Amino acid sequence: MTNLLGLDVGTSSVKGLLVSPTGDVLARAEASYPLSTPHPGWAEQDPEDWWRATQAVLGELRAAGPVTGLGLSGQMHGLVLLDAAGEVLRPAMLWNDGRTGEECAEIESRIGLARLVELTGNRALTGFTAPKLLWVQKREPHVHERIAHVLLPKDYVRYRLCGDFATDVADASGTLWLDVGARAWSDEVVAALDVDRAWLPSVHESPEATGTFEGIPVAAGGGDQAAGAVGVGVDRPGPVSVVLGTSGVVFAALDGYASDPEGRVHAFCHAVPGAWHGMGVMLSAAGSLAWLRSVAGGEFSELVEEASRWEPGAEGLTFLPYLAGERTPHADPFARGSFTGLSLRHDRGALARAVLEGVAFGLRDSLDLVASIGGAPLLGRVSGGGARSDLWLRICASVLELPLQRVELEEGAAFGAALLGGVAAGVFSDVGEAVSACVRPREVVEPVASWIGPYADQRSRFRDLYPALRSVG
Ligand code: XUL
Repeated sequence: MTNLLGLDVGTSSVKGLLVSPTGDVLARAEASYPLSTPHPGWAEQDPEDWWRATQAVLGELRAAGPVTGLGLSGQMHGLVLLDAAGEVLRPAMLWNDGRTGEECAEIESRIGLARLVELTGNRALTGFTAPKLLWVQKREPHVHERIAHVLLPKDYVRYRLCGDFATDVADASGTLWLDVGARAWSDEVVAALDVDRAWLPSVHESPEATGTFEGIPVAAGGGDQAAGAVGVGVDRPGPVSVVLGTSGVVFAALDGYASDPEGRVHAFCHAVPGAWHGMGVMLSAAGSLAWLRSVAGGEFSELVEEASRWEPGAEGLTFLPYLAGERTPHADPFARGSFTGLSLRHDRGALARAVLEGVAFGLRDSLDLVASIGGAPLLGRVSGGGARSDLWLRICASVLELPLQRVELEEGAAFGAALLGGVAAGVFSDVGEAVSACVRPREVVEPVASWIGPYADQRSRFRDLYPALRSVG
């Protein structure tokens, strides 16, 4: 009877799970929507589409059983603008929207890079929320003058569900307006960037209830990476979360606030009170394999099987995965991908092998930076579609020199959101108890000893290639 419902407002769909208090999935539902790219480098969505999809998912899941607590998770960094009547002013600008290069430079010069990183844990990146609002101020003054509320994507859905303007510290960390160490909006940053403090939602710890939906407590929830980490049991320092989704992520929970002085790795609040996290994000992980499949044909399973016929290193073929620019470690929206070292012997399987390995090298760059602020981990917990491939996990484990463990459920973010909903409803006393009750780790994939040396050599070639591919846009 004490079922929990988790919703993840993603980039392609709303995914929902109905979960028992012991972590069994009782029902799943999903409803998708389009993404619009009206100009090269732009990425927008209609918040009304999120709401329609949420209603469809909620309808299905509520029919499957009673609900005691609800948690929200979602794509981070998106900008949703509302007027005083609560009406949406323009399409939401998303995390993968790259139009704000000039605004990022302006933010870093207004506040100073060192001070910005000290306060917010991050440098200004095109995907983040603050540069988008500055863009609207300059290019769409007719919209800017009507702003009454600024929200993140999942918090727009919260507003439609509960009527309140609220967010959580983990998602708020991706705006660049949060004092991440203090877990509160930064008056200094907000004033320097001409943001009216009254536009911003109230900020809560992730497991706190911010309101109710039809009598059900709704947790503040978390951005998809923080909620996803909870969903794979990375709530406290220990295993790191490694995500092989469209994008690739290495995420370590931290006991205290720590940032990289150059802001090369994100330092955000975790969805666990009193915890922070360090995170590296690569923009094209499984997305690189999806791209190869779109141009070379075949099913994913065929590509991976053909890749398995090649030795590590694919006879000198190296792939750089910067197909959509790169965030960690290069913070370069104009970086580009490449295959280097092609020979007449290389076939589709060699290309696939190089893609699997190039993504692993990118993850290793993130891991090294995350470890520089959080310490070297002993275990990774994997999720995302790519984690289904044994070969890819063996490659990643060997490149990261880290055993990788699967968990029973791959839907990290919606699952983590459900657990946060369970804490908000009092089913669990805290996030740690929810994780112990519900997250079930499975088998560990170990590094292949004979691959570690060759991959270390190939990784230095991978690193040397980037300067030729930087900022060609
Ligand atoms: C995190 C990030 C992505 C988006 C979309 O920094 O950009 O995880 O939240 O999923």
